Amino acid sequence: MEFQNTLSYAQNLDSKDSLHKYRDQFYYPKVNGKEVIYFTGNSLGLQPKNSKEYVDEVMRDWAELAVEGHFYADKPWWDYHERLVEPLAKIVGAKTEEVSVMNTLTVNLHLLMVSFYRPTHKRFKILCEEKAFPSDQYMLQSQVRFHGLNPQDTIVEVKKRDGEHSWRTEDIIAKIEEIGDELALLLIGGVNYYNGQVFDMKAITAAGKANGAFVGWDLAHAAGNIELKLHDWEVDFAAWCSYKYMNSGPGNASGIFVHQRYLDRKDIPRFEGWWGTKKETRFLMKPEFDPMANADAWQLSNAPILSVAPYLASLQLFEEVGMKALLEKQKLITAYLEFILKKVDDQVASTFEIITPKERGCQLSVFLHGEGKSLFDYLMKNGVITDWREPNVIRLAPAPFYCSFEDMFRFGEILKAGILSK
Ligand SMILES: Cc1ncc(COP(=O)(O)O)c(C=O)c1O
Repeated sequence: MEFQNTLSYAQNLDSKDSLHKYRDQFYYPKVNGKEVIYFTGNSLGLQPKNSKEYVDEVMRDWAELAVEGHFYADKPWWDYHERLVEPLAKIVGAKTEEVSVMNTLTVNLHLLMVSFYRPTHKRFKILCEEKAFPSDQYMLQSQVRFHGLNPQDTIVEVKKRDGEHSWRTEDIIAKIEEIGDELALLLIGGVNYYNGQVFDMKAITAAGKANGAFVGWDLAHAAGNIELKLHDWEVDFAAWCSYKYMNSGPGNASGIFVHQRYLDRKDIPRFEGWWGTKKETRFLMKPEFDPMANADAWQLSNAPILSVAPYLASLQLFEEVGMKALLEKQKLITAYLEFILKKVDDQVASTFEIITPKERGCQLSVFLHGEGKSLFDYLMKNGVITDWREPNVIRLAPAPFYCSFEDMFRFGEILKAGILSK
């Protein structure tokens, strides 16, 4: 497709965009009285306008029904979280029984590691990407220490090659084979938070499993952003947060995936709680734990309804739009943003290097050679919300639900003015 760097061209793309009308379903912060251009859906998605209605419903039921709301609210609380499973299964490519919603992301990864990191004398190593998201690093290190092992001898990081900005699948697979029968677990971020790279989850999962390891994915930057086929790829487990591309609200509930082959089994070690035991007999308050036959077996507590309600509201929009349309727009708008960046780069004889490889979702990470944090500050002051990562990278994520092609054009003009004004 031959793009053009003009307002009318961008507006024409918007007029053909079936998702354009969804802009009105979200709230935008304002800078200088104008709605911002929002590039940080990879960090915290915008608030869908319907989320208040879902939260208000719970508040009203709580006021009017109190404890009776557990069973007699319009959406009873005791199984409220089950309403999220069907839309989520479509988003992550899973069977409904493989998905559950609970806790927050790091908590869930810890809980899943209880089941899927069971080091033995021979097989004890964990493979992850170098400079994984810090919370994942802390999680892995603390799990390893919990098992009485030393992180230095246990955690192996796959590195990028010198001078390259992304990981090569062949290097990851070579590392898996090198570790061989010492490899207990492979756990990587499916989309890297820093460079936006989408890992070849199918190939890497197959290689990990062929070598006898469990394979899990942190899908914080993947869920709702890229196509996932967790069941077909035979991933063992995964977890994601919902407040980035899934617009559920700050710190909101996380989702988990556990492959069908591990469901309805009592022999899997788990940290257990009453919401994981069969719902038919839960309130008989028996001492024996009888796991739910689905991923809910990993649930511990009754669901935080006020956190799950806005997640359900947002998933309703995903149901309406469907991942197919979102993915189509994601590809087009990200390509248009890339084109705009290159045009600005030509015009200012500058300085940008897109470090995101072609395997990407909607995030472009841009290295600003010779431009410091002042450019980021300029963008923020002029209504462009991006985020900054040391040493000199801005991350731009044009989330297809609420970013427009006109936003990309306007961003290019603001960026150019920012560089030229120095
Ligand atoms: C890749 C990745 N993993 C883990 C986390 C931690 O998420 P939480 O604070 O919900 O546990 C984040 C948060 O941004 C993340 O980006």
